[in-house]
Order: sequence, then C-alpha cells, then structure tokens
Amino acid sequence: MFLGMDVGTGGTRAVLVDEKGQLAGSASSEHEPFRTPHPGWAEQDPEDWWRAAQRAIREVLASGARVDAVGLTGQMHGAVMLDKDGKVLRPALIWCDVRTGPQCDWLHKVIGRERLIELTANPALPNFTLTKLLWVKEHEPEIFARIAHILCPKDYVRYRLTGTYAMDVQEASGTLLLDVAHRRWSKEVAKIAGIPESWLPELFESPEICANISDEAAQLTGLKAGTPVAAGAGDQGAGAVGMGILQPGSVSATIGTSGVVFAATAAPTRDPLGRLHTFCHAVPGRWHVMGVTQAAGLSLRWLRETLAPDQTYDDLTSAAARIPAGSDGLLWTPYLLGERTPHLDPTATAAFVGITATTTRAHFTRAVLEGVAYSLKDTFTLFSELGIPVKGVRLGGGGARGPLWREIQANIYGYACERLTAEEGGAFGAALMAGVGAGHWPDLEAACAAGITVAETIQPKPAAVQRYAEGYAGYRRVYPALKGIHG
Ligand code: XUL
Repeated sequence: MFLGMDVGTGGTRAVLVDEKGQLAGSASSEHEPFRTPHPGWAEQDPEDWWRAAQRAIREVLASGARVDAVGLTGQMHGAVMLDKDGKVLRPALIWCDVRTGPQCDWLHKVIGRERLIELTANPALPNFTLTKLLWVKEHEPEIFARIAHILCPKDYVRYRLTGTYAMDVQEASGTLLLDVAHRRWSKEVAKIAGIPESWLPELFESPEICANISDEAAQLTGLKAGTPVAAGAGDQGAGAVGMGILQPGSVSATIGTSGVVFAATAAPTRDPLGRLHTFCHAVPGRWHVMGVTQAAGLSLRWLRETLAPDQTYDDLTSAAARIPAGSDGLLWTPYLLGERTPHLDPTATAAFVGITATTTRAHFTRAVLEGVAYSLKDTFTLFSELGIPVKGVRLGGGGARGPLWREIQANIYGYACERLTAEEGGAFGAALMAGVGAGHWPDLEAACAAGITVAETIQPKPAAVQRYAEGYAGYRRVYPALKGIHG
C-alpha cells in the first residue's frame, strides 16, 4: 500500500492506494479555519496541520494496512518559518494571504519585472512565498532574525514525520526563489531578497525518496519507523499526476473553489507578461503552465447562497439546462475575489451584464456556469498565443461532476473533454509518486496507466461552439469596459 497525504486548506486527507493503483481507503481531519485578522490576511498554525495529519493517518491505518511508502502534497505557497531547533516562529502566511502587494512592487523595482521572469519564470504575486517572507522582514524584524529554515505546508508535515527539511521542485517553483528552468534555487534572487541560502531546504524531484519516518512519528501515527517518504508536489502538481496529465499536450481543467487550467510542457514556457504560472512539473524533466480563475466553483456557491438558498445545486442546474446556450445574452465575469489569469488584478470585481425583464433565476445560474468556463477559456487563449499545444483535455473537480457543466466546458473550450471514472485529487497523485519512489512502478506514466481510466468523452457540438464563440467575444469586452468604474 502507498499512503498519499494532502495537507489542504480546510483539512488534511490521507488515502491508501494498492499495488494496482486503486484507492483502498481514505480518512480526513479538518483544520481550524484560517484566520483573517485584517482584510486580505490568511494565517494558519502549522501545528494544526500536524495534528490533523496524525489523526488522518491513524484513522486510515485502522484497517490494518501496511504502508510501503508515503507521498505528500498540499496547499502551495504558504510560508512556514522555523528557528534553528525547528520550532515554528509564527503562524504561516498561507497561499490566499494577499497582504504583500508592496513587497511585490519592491521586488519588481529592485530586480526588474522582466529579469525576475527570466530568473524564476514568474512575476512577483502576493500568493508566492518569498513576498510573505519579505513582509515579515519589514514588519516583524525580530522574528525574521530568528529564522533558520523555511518550508511550505506539506513540507512542514514531512519535517514532523521524518525530521528532514526537504522540498520538491514543483512546490519550490511557487516560492519565487527557484530557478525554474534549471530546477535549482536561484542564488541571485535569494541574495537580492536577503534570504540566506542556508534557510532553503534540500531540493528533490517529486517521485524521489527524500526521508524516512522517524521513531517518534512512528509512535504517534502507527506508520512503521523507516518507511520511505517521497518528495511529492504541491496540490496542483499532484492533482495533475492524479489525473494523468503528464505528457506535453495533455491539459486538465479543474473547477473546485478556484479553477485551474493546467498543461504539461516539454520545456519551461514563460509568458513574458507573467499571466500564467510556469512551474517545474512533478514529472522529472518536464514543466507545466497553469492559469487560475480565483472564484470558479465559488461563483456557483455564492449564487446559491445569495439568490437561491432554498434550492439544491441539482434544482439550479436542471432549470439552467432548459435555458439556451448563451443564456439569452446574459454574461457573468466571475471576479468575486479579484482575478489571477489573465488580468492579475486583485481589485477586479464580478458582474452580470445583459439583464432584461425576461431574465430568470435559471438564466443567472446558466450564465454563472458559462462565465466560469469563459474565464478558464482565457487560459486556453493564452496557450494558443504562446504556442502551448493542447492535445486533449480532462475535466476535474466539482465542474466535472454534472453533465451540464461538462457539456458547457466542452463547447466553450472547443475541445473533446474526458471525464475519469474516479477522480481522487492530489492525495491520490501523491500516493502514485510514493509508489514510483519505492520502485513499485518504473515511472509516473506506468503508475497512471495502472490507476487511471477514462469514463466518457464529451464531444463539442458545432452549433453550440459557434454560439459560445460569440458569447466569449462579448465576455472579453466586459472587464475592460467596467475597469475603473469604481475609481
Ligand atoms: C496554486 C494555488 C492553490 C493553492 C491552494 O497556485 O494557489 O492551488 O495551492 O490550494
């Protein structure tokens, strides 16, 4: 059995995967909700992740399973700061903490935006770890002075499981301290930012074994001391492995709270304008690009909670299925939390445009489903601008669960879209990495071939593709038209 651990934002999940690559058990334990002492701040206690991880592992092992290797994944970008004895110095600033706009501006000023993209393949965004460290440097210098090690969330859980400071190159890509093209820390960025190299953990490729379960962790979790631990990857990297997105040209579109379009690439493809994230893939020797829609599934949840709290999601989508493609001209731009791709504008706001006296609640629902897909289509548009091939698309997350959203996505993206029989997310991908690290499969391709099957292919329909091409042209005009309306 291989154990995959996903240290998410809401909770930690542990899954067991058997030698055939099939799910054999799972358990989860919730985290305390993240704290927002000021608007835009988001903090969590690393100890809480470790508590949840211990609980989830103990529960999943209650079946008596014997684990041969462990793989880790989790929420990316969070800054965990430890002193020389490995003690947590302050709560972690997590991925959705966006207080660091001034630190991003400073990095662009001292390094130059273009040079930073050359060095790290990405511009400074408030989500990225380095900007969070710079905030602590400026506002809490007494804490900054005591830092001896920095880690991302799942790597802190690894540290508690094994006593080893380690990180994989996919996760490290989201710190803004990695030379993504060469898969090594960027000495130049670390030096300019004032981050001592001694703080940076050792780097590994995702399927590599980098540590072993310690005696202490064995007692706390029920795992066997000495069990090998693979490096793993951030949730997007591991999620892609769990969906079989390994070969250049394979692409996933996943709608969870946020939405991500992820493409595997043979080389580090940089967007000179930094609108896509360019990271090392969890597959050794490959890279990936991804575009992020901040409020994807969240748009539908917001609609239900705000306009239809008495309706189920099924009620809403079956009414929306009776509205024609294009929602009779109603458009939704989903910028409830600002937007990452393509606008990189944390101040962007959402809008319904095109309401008439005949607009019904079902139109609003359908427009939300379509608007989220248009927003993800923006990433496909960037892919074609940058020459990133798209050979096949797999759908994931809540957006893959119902027929209407699947069909809308296929027609808006204009590609045949596959749905998998079971989609188990990042923890499943992390378990496959553990299986490769332990030598059970020769590589991730073999692991995915064993564990992943396609349930259905949704073909785009020419009439709807045409209708949505017109809708998308209108959608693209909404953001520039409304920008600046609030000053
Ligand atoms: C990736 C990202 C999210 C977080 C939280 O860039 O911000 O996927 O990892 O899940």
